[in-house]
Amino acid sequence: MTGRTSLTIVLAAGEGTRMRSSIPKVLHQVAGGSLLSHVLAAAPSGEGAGVAVVIGPQREDVGAEAKRVRPDAAIVVQAERLGTAHAVLAAREAIERGADDVLVVFGDTPLISAATLARMQEPLKAGAAVVVLGFRAADPTGYGRLLTKNGELVAIREQNDASAAERLIDLCNAGVMAFDGRTALQILDAIGNANSKSEYYLTDAVGIARDKGLRAVTIETSEDEVRGINTKAQLAEAEAVLQTRLRQAALEAGVTMTAPESVYLSADTSFGKDVTIEPFVVIGPGVTIADGAVIHSFSHIVEATIGKKASVGPYARLRPGTSLGEGAKIGNFVETKNAVLDAGAKVNHLTYIGDAHVGVGANIGAGTITCNYDGFKKHRTVIGAGAFVGSNSSLVAPVRIGAGAYVGSGSVITKDVADDALAVERGEQTMRPGWAKRFRDMKARGKSKPA
Ligand code: UD1
Ligand code: CA
Repeated sequence: MTGRTSLTIVLAAGEGTRMRSSIPKVLHQVAGGSLLSHVLAAAPSGEGAGVAVVIGPQREDVGAEAKRVRPDAAIVVQAERLGTAHAVLAAREAIERGADDVLVVFGDTPLISAATLARMQEPLKAGAAVVVLGFRAADPTGYGRLLTKNGELVAIREQNDASAAERLIDLCNAGVMAFDGRTALQILDAIGNANSKSEYYLTDAVGIARDKGLRAVTIETSEDEVRGINTKAQLAEAEAVLQTRLRQAALEAGVTMTAPESVYLSADTSFGKDVTIEPFVVIGPGVTIADGAVIHSFSHIVEATIGKKASVGPYARLRPGTSLGEGAKIGNFVETKNAVLDAGAKVNHLTYIGDAHVGVGANIGAGTITCNYDGFKKHRTVIGAGAFVGSNSSLVAPVRIGAGAYVGSGSVITKDVADDALAVERGEQTMRPGWAKRFRDMKARGKSKPA
């Protein structure tokens, strides 16, 4: 958008020992995505915007997550942890390719916004060599302090190297920095490790730039946006901040929520118009909710597509691969997984539909179970349009229930049930009224067999 090319370098080589976890820190989740995925989502994207992710040795899992989110990302390994400047230089080749702007962000700072990163590119355009993101810390202990003079940034002093007077400064380094691509490498290469930790500090870039007669400036943001995650408690705080943002955005987009504070969303949740979400709903990653759909209380939804005017819950669990057609209905205590329900299909009570396709307008009675697993393999169940499955039936997959067929209550179906074509043509009771005509039209179009 700025018309400038960029390279965003994400530092993610830390182990995160304080998380007390075998999972690397940046793969912990907030708002339905890894810390790393949120940072990558904020990085500039599109034409001329590159990304390099710096990972620790043997951290293929972190590299894989980066690739999943940004397939164009270059993954580079920092073999030894010798400091933030050393980590940035692991991406030397990418820097040498010569972007206008080089941004450095931390993989454990998931609340950073795209708007702030764009704002950091502004002073570069105006001739600054280094831009540092600053914030006023409620408790500055541990952060690098920003030393300013006449509006210019003079140096960053790390906690351990700061004097008593410098420690009183509350303007702190968030860790996010931006460099003019033309001078980035010469500054980075000049950074040494003569400090209390013998680390190559990225923060020394400021003093070095000034010594070279280049300009360094700071931009301020809120502490909320630059919270780094080091502990499980901070992970929970970041979740709260993100949920507040997501609920706000959903309300602004027109979603009706009477108790938004009880609804959990994911960063990638997508809503149509006039969607209603009742209290106490959890929406995991990969969920799309179309116009006019209603999600009733206590429903849990992950990787699912909910069609227009569909209704879910209360107490429904939609697992990955669920897709509901227009006006489809999932009632209480129903679980679905890898299941496509066509328009108007109804599964109202106490049912499991897994690895299945339910045709247009089919009605699945209470207590129906698709027995998809034989102890070794999963099998599919296909239920034709307009079929009626009586209560408490077990459909033992692989099995196909024909269009318009009628399954009596309490059946255990182990063999395919044929289409009830005659009954369908006569418009008999096997077809529920509204759907009989629809089904005949479908047959007329040559689509007699459900998919
Ligand atoms: C850093 C800043 C400090 C700032 C603070 C904000 C430096 C020298 N200090 O301190 O001014 O206030 O962040 O949170 O930059 N990393 C690597 N490889 C390394 C070292 C670090 O990938 O060799 C990554 C870490 O995984 C982490 C980030 O860089 O994501 C920051 O490193 P960390 O050691 O946490 O820096 P701080 O001491 O917190
Ligand atoms: Ca840190």
